Amino acid sequence: MYLIRGGTVVTADDTRRCDVLIDGSRIASVGPDLEVPMGCTVVDADGLMVMPGGIDPHTHMEMPFMGATASDDFETGTRAGLVGGTTTIIDFVIPTAGGSLVEAWRDWRAKAGKATADYSFHVAVTHWDERVHDEMGVLTREHGVNSFKHFMAYKGALMVDDGVLLRSVKRALELGALCNVHAENGDAVAYLQADLLARGITGPEAHPMSRPPEVEGEAAGRAIAIAGLLGAPIYIVHVSTKDATDAIARARSAGQRVYGEVLAQHLVIDDSVYQNPDWLGAAQHVMSPPFRPKSHQTALWAGLASGQLQTTATDHCCFCAPQKEAGRNDFTKIPNGTPGIEDRMSVLWHHGVGKGRLTPQEFVAVTSANTAKIFNIYPRKGSIAPGADADIVLWDPVAERTISAATHHQRVDYNVFEGMRVSGVARSVFSGGRLAVHEGDIRAKRGDGAYVERPCFSDTFDALARRRASSGTTA
Ligand code: URP
Ligand code: ZN
Ligand code: ZN
Ligand code: ZN
Repeated sequence: MYLIRGGTVVTADDTRRCDVLIDGSRIASVGPDLEVPMGCTVVDADGLMVMPGGIDPHTHMEMPFMGATASDDFETGTRAGLVGGTTTIIDFVIPTAGGSLVEAWRDWRAKAGKATADYSFHVAVTHWDERVHDEMGVLTREHGVNSFKHFMAYKGALMVDDGVLLRSVKRALELGALCNVHAENGDAVAYLQADLLARGITGPEAHPMSRPPEVEGEAAGRAIAIAGLLGAPIYIVHVSTKDATDAIARARSAGQRVYGEVLAQHLVIDDSVYQNPDWLGAAQHVMSPPFRPKSHQTALWAGLASGQLQTTATDHCCFCAPQKEAGRNDFTKIPNGTPGIEDRMSVLWHHGVGKGRLTPQEFVAVTSANTAKIFNIYPRKGSIAPGADADIVLWDPVAERTISAATHHQRVDYNVFEGMRVSGVARSVFSGGRLAVHEGDIRAKRGDGAYVERPCFSDTFDALARRRASSGTTA
């Protein structure tokens, strides 16, 4: 038992000074001046904010991708997340080409058994056949999966065409599951990549040229149109452009249920990183979508503040220097991905709350509560209330630190935020009722994390069903 005493509890809709009692893995009570039960450990939170642990809805731990395997695994990656105040991840199960979704889900479960913090899975649909249709049902009914991922990019690898997307969105709708899309026009990217290589432009500076903002805006618009056609909700991962943000805002204004996620990296890093004369320095920033001109960052911050974009993530996907080297002579072979899980909360606090773009309650909304609601695990996650999982961060809003690969816990040899001075530090972190991190002491152990089942048919699906019934649509 723990009593967190004297802190300011901040949730997405409330800020008040009170204590929090943890019993086992759950929050037992929240209120002013709680009594200390026998045998209870008191943790002093004076001067600290007590907030729900962060949820990162987009990570790729030990993901096999582009001939490499992401270097942070479920143990090291979740541990780094805990240090930064993130207590739950939603990672992506990627089936082999033409392979079984359920078998892939089992493989990912086995890999994730060593996680130090809670984890859940989106499952990617990378082709279509009767088995995929049936296994989507098995995953939702028996394995706690309520979201499916679609790559509109990575032609010749993970990409699906509109035919697959239509079938999968339709199937997910009947199962009460939410579809996610990586929105980039994969045919356009492949065309532009071939054109750049043919012109002898082979370095990392070609990466953003092969994926201009229109490529993302078009795909986001197309995914939204497909979802709209079927009366289904849709969630767009790693929105990096004004183009896609505007497409989402337009659809939402028209009454469509569209959600947008933004990465901490895209909010603060711009495309100048690709002009680094040091090849590796530029290659370390090769991720998709790429970093953008600053004007897009303004749109992303505005999207978050206005509620048009709801969640923040990192797409944490680590590749070390020898892995990035695979693309030394051909930028299309640089494994795509950047780290971020350890620093998302600090970056959002410093550049969001610190610069007046977000309130502390909005910070909680975009770092945990909104994700928990959209993926139907609220209020178990993303809240501080009796009965909720005791995933809690004691946040020091004024403490400062300098982000660096020399001191981070991520298993990767660089940090895209290198040298950034940020205020906002996780002083202590509770994960499933355990004191996982306390004043720099990392206590979380391999295997402490648990698999989080997410039920289908969130309220959104109910509302959509009534909408379809009342408008006479049968889609
Ligand atoms: O570059 C990225 N984002 N790598 C991970 C895979 C993906 O597209 O999310
Ligand atoms: Zn069906
Ligand atoms: Zn992606
Ligand atoms: Zn990703």
